[in-house]
Order: sequence, then C-alpha cells, then structure tokens
Amino acid sequence: MQPSSSAVDFTRLGPWEDMPAAQQPDWRDHAEYREARDGLASAPPLVGAAEIRRLRQSLSRLVTTEALLLQLGDCAESFYECEPRHIAQKLRVIDRLGDRFSELTGRSVIRVGRMGGQFAKPRSQPTERHGALTIPSFQGHLINSEIASPVTREANPRRMLWAYEASDKVQRALRRHRQGGYRLPATEGPWSSHEALVIDYESRLVRRDPDTEDLYLASTHLPWVGERTRRPADAHVALLSAVVNPVGCKIGPTADPDDVLRVCEALDPHREPGRLVLIPRMGRDRIQEALPPIVRRVVNAGHPVVWLSDPMHGNTVKTRLGLKTRHLDDVITEALRFRDILETNRQHAAGLHIEVAADDVTECIGGSVESEADLQRHYTSLCDPRLNADQAVELIEAWAKGAAADRS
Ligand code: PEP
Ligand code: CO
Repeated sequence: MQPSSSAVDFTRLGPWEDMPAAQQPDWRDHAEYREARDGLASAPPLVGAAEIRRLRQSLSRLVTTEALLLQLGDCAESFYECEPRHIAQKLRVIDRLGDRFSELTGRSVIRVGRMGGQFAKPRSQPTERHGALTIPSFQGHLINSEIASPVTREANPRRMLWAYEASDKVQRALRRHRQGGYRLPATEGPWSSHEALVIDYESRLVRRDPDTEDLYLASTHLPWVGERTRRPADAHVALLSAVVNPVGCKIGPTADPDDVLRVCEALDPHREPGRLVLIPRMGRDRIQEALPPIVRRVVNAGHPVVWLSDPMHGNTVKTRLGLKTRHLDDVITEALRFRDILETNRQHAAGLHIEVAADDVTECIGGSVESEADLQRHYTSLCDPRLNADQAVELIEAWAKGAAADRS
C-alpha cells in the first residue's frame, strides 16, 4: 500500500530555500524546471511517516540492546538498475550480509540500503577533461548522464521526475520485502537511505505526517548530509533539521570538533536517541588522531548519537592508470580502529556504512582481486569503487572477530 500524507503548503517552503547550498545543479533557467518541481510537489510520498517512526524507534534502541546497523549499497545508483532483476539481486546481498553479521555477532542487525534514491553525487571537481574537451562531471542520474559528452552532461531537471519514478519502484520492492514478514522482525528493515543532496528534489518531497502533524522527508527513510555539504548554516542541514526522519551526517578527517558539535546542535537539539547517526569516514591513517576528540566532544555535550563507521571514503586511491580503487586491508584497518576508539570511550560502535555492489565486481583490491591488473575484469561503478559481496563478508568477519590488534 502506498503511504498517505496530508499536503504541505508549497507556496511557503522552508527557510532552506534561501540559504546557501553547495553542489547544486544549475538548471533553474531550464524550460522544464518549474514543471518538474511542481510534479514532485503534488506526487504521493515515496515512504510513509509510520515507517520512519518505526526506524527511528529501532535506532533509539540500538545502544541499549547492543544491536547493530548495516548501511550498504552503491556509491551511485543507476536508473537502469531500478528494475525487478537488479532490485532482487541487491536485496539478496543485503540479506546475505545482514544475516552473516547477525550470525557472527549474535546481535540483531538493522539493515539500511543505499537504495531507492542514491542518485545524486557531490563532486570535488565540477568539470573533467576528455582530450581537448572540458565537460561537466557526472553528478548522478538525478542530474545528468554518465555518458561523456557536452549534451549528455547538461543538468536536466526532468531527471527529478525520473528519479521519483525509479525510487518508487525500489521503495515498493523494499516494502514488499519488509512485509514478507517471515524472515526478520519488521524493525530490522531493509530500509532506504540516500544523501539528501539536491535541494530542489528533496524540498518538494517534504510532507506532513497526518497523525502527528510533523514534517517528514518522504523521499527516503534515512537521509544523510555529506562531508561536503554539512555546514550548519547551509540549506542541507536546515532541511534535515526541519524533518523528523532519523538523519545521518558524514564526518571527514579535517572536521573540527566544534563544527561537529554545531551540526549536532542543529540536527539533534533535543538530544533524542535514534535521531542522529554520525558517520566518520576518515581514512585508516587519520582516524586515530581525528576521531577521539570528536567522540569526546559529542558525548560530553550529551548527544546520544549512533556511531557508524564508513571505512570506504577516506581510503580511496588511484592506480597508475588513473582508476579509483580501495584496498580491503585499509578498509578493515579503519573499521577496527573505529571500533577500538568507540569502545575506549565507552560508546557503542554501532556498525558499518559500506559501498557494496550486487554484482561480482572487481573494483577494490583484496580477496580474489589480487592486484591492480585484476581491477579491469569487472569494473562498472558509476562513481566510487565498491566491494563485492565476498569482500564485504571478509570485512564483516574481521569486525565480528573484534581483533583489537592493529593490522598495519
Ligand atoms: C558517499 O557516501 O558516496 C559520499 C560522497 O560520501 P562523503 O560525503 O563522505 O564523501
Ligand atoms: Co561514494
């Protein structure tokens, strides 16, 4: 059943409309901009308020039950994979990894896919060179095409409607999977999540919960704000602070503890368990210096956050041929160091946020992908290099073993 909600007054959107926002597509002069925006504003919600409340509740019990959280999926989802065969394959990987994590740790595992809306990517370079041509970078299927030509890389606002349609298919499949009912308690998911990056898209999918009158973001269960857009005075944080979803925030290695605290104040002013998931992504060599002062600052200020390790994004390297990759050993080292730091500070290390493909890709080095030469066998990511499921199992096994020993 499609979730219901009462309409929001879209003539007066939130304050974030007038706030600075990094990483936005330049499409406001496009002939179809208004139509696309209005189309979204009148569309049914993609996820329901009751679902969001249920996820928030289970996140709020993570710490006391010592349950775990596993957030996983593509770096950038493809519109073309939002169809039954691929969706089923992704769900199988979520089930496999979630079940294995649970079996090895003896804990229940809440599963959240980077799925059903992970269509927009922040980029460190707005353009890229192809021979003599300089063209806009690929920014995710919500904005432009991965095909490298000046025309296909133009930002197209109609893509917001395509994203909505693609998301709807995935959300329906996730809902059926959750309601299948016999595998897992309904609280364990799988739920959806994505980076709430494109303000035009996200702000038109704010809805009012008919039962509580609260605003919620109806594009996904667990939106997060990225390392490049987490400034407290900017639109992304303002938008997420106005809705009742559980929200995530990535924290990079250069984050200042005071800045992190300001983000916590904005996103979790009432210090509510289950509201805020902090996701450090620091890199294996920087986490030991950078994370402890942040943990202490957040804990001392009384924010009961969920601590989740993203051991992927701080460990990206380039091969001699210019291909982005990650070494499984680095990923494992960062995850174990994260665990040690949290436990030393008497906090619950709640689990992992990882980029994993449903196909048997060769994008990261480790396990059966022995060297750089093997990467070319099956490298299909639209953006960052993902683990394959076997590599992800290795990571989960290392976490579960809890080897405090330093692998470096
Ligand atoms: C991502 O999760 O794909 C991403 C871009 O992360 P971050 O904001 O941590 O760089
Ligand atoms: Co990524």
